[in-house]
Amino acid sequence: MSAPSEGARSRRSGSTRRQFLLGGAVAGVGAVAAVGVDLALNRADADQAPASTPMNGEQTVPFFGDHQAGIDTAAQAHGLFVALDLHDDVDRDGLARLMGLLTDDAARLTQGRAALADSEPELALAPARLTVTFGFGPNFVARAGGVGPSWLATLPAFGVDRLQAEFSDGDLLLQIAADDPLTVAHATRMLLKDARGFADVRWTQQGFRRAYGTERPGTTMRNLFGQVDGTTNPEPGTADFDEVVWSADGWLAGGTGMVLRRIHMDLDKWDRLDRSGRDASVGRTLANGAPLTGAEEFDEPDFEAKTSLGFPVIPQFAHIRRARGDGAERIFRRGYNYDERPSGASVSESGLLFVSFQADVDAQFVPMQRRLDELDLLNEWTVPIGSAVFAIPPGCAEGGFIGETLLT
Ligand code: HEM
Repeated sequence: MSAPSEGARSRRSGSTRRQFLLGGAVAGVGAVAAVGVDLALNRADADQAPASTPMNGEQTVPFFGDHQAGIDTAAQAHGLFVALDLHDDVDRDGLARLMGLLTDDAARLTQGRAALADSEPELALAPARLTVTFGFGPNFVARAGGVGPSWLATLPAFGVDRLQAEFSDGDLLLQIAADDPLTVAHATRMLLKDARGFADVRWTQQGFRRAYGTERPGTTMRNLFGQVDGTTNPEPGTADFDEVVWSADGWLAGGTGMVLRRIHMDLDKWDRLDRSGRDASVGRTLANGAPLTGAEEFDEPDFEAKTSLGFPVIPQFAHIRRARGDGAERIFRRGYNYDERPSGASVSESGLLFVSFQADVDAQFVPMQRRLDELDLLNEWTVPIGSAVFAIPPGCAEGGFIGETLLT
């Protein structure tokens, strides 16, 4: 099984500075007309800066394509997940109008251009690799008169679950991610302004990784337990990734399935565990994420190796042994940390927005989660408190809209 770092792969490449400035000049003209501010002049000044110092805010990820962006895109520093519930009176035509509006907003904002009637157009000018990814819940597809996929439903109940409605389910998902939190906030507001005639916000969940520039691109993320998290993951741009992630079925062809689990991590309890216990719980070291049978992060774990006493070096209860099973089920993980206001005596209310993409949720995610439900030492410190499944439709070409394969 291949195991390159999640971040080490380039997916949709960022645009060059020059491409951005050319596009930016056009956006600038529109914004000038809208608000009478000389943004185009600011752009021209920026063009005088040495080409060797591109600003991260200028980077863009293409919006149009066979697949939606935000899946095979190197994970941005900030991710916001918003679930909406459709108003009762929104029919199939309404859904097509809604997705047309949201597609237009996303296509502009991700390229550093103001949305139509953007109330703060200046905030649109630093896309910082913004992506907007749309997902449909079961009720959305039913309302559209569509069929399937069969896995698009609430997940089976697992023994470890303590699910809360305030973090679960939803009709329409927006995954809004960028390397700048102000960009995320602005894009979210513009999208929700256009959505509010059709749907209400059900929940929002905010996540983060390291800030842009803190670590070299390609460094696997760490979660709030301090673990290197995301080492064994299919590599975007490979046939392996395509097989694990992209669906080939009907209106979803070129799309995928998304599972979002809000998993509380009990950091106060984790504090009481010593270093070797922490390493054993996963089967990898905290120091660099190497398997207990290896030295480097990407060394292949040896699940057969035994200690001098005859015990497995990677314990039977270790998370990686249980998650991998016989290797038959694979998923692509692209999660975010969360950290909220603590309550009671705890000093932390933290966890993981576990996000996985897979072509078939029932065939790939569910058996793995069942195994972890049965046995996984990490269950001592983790509790799933939210859960949602969405069908992520394919991308679209310019002039089209996300969801058109379902709605037209
Ligand atoms: C808060 C909960 C969780 C934490 C803290 C966590 C942490 C980790 C860590 C540290 C690794 C080892 C490094 C790596 O390969 O990424 C790992 C691997 C993995 N995790 Fe999790 N995980 C969590 C939940 C889950 C869930 C819910 C699933 C799926 C149902 C899952 C599936 C996997 C898989 C497939 C691997 C790779 C196993 C392999 O080596 O083949 N994890 N996780």
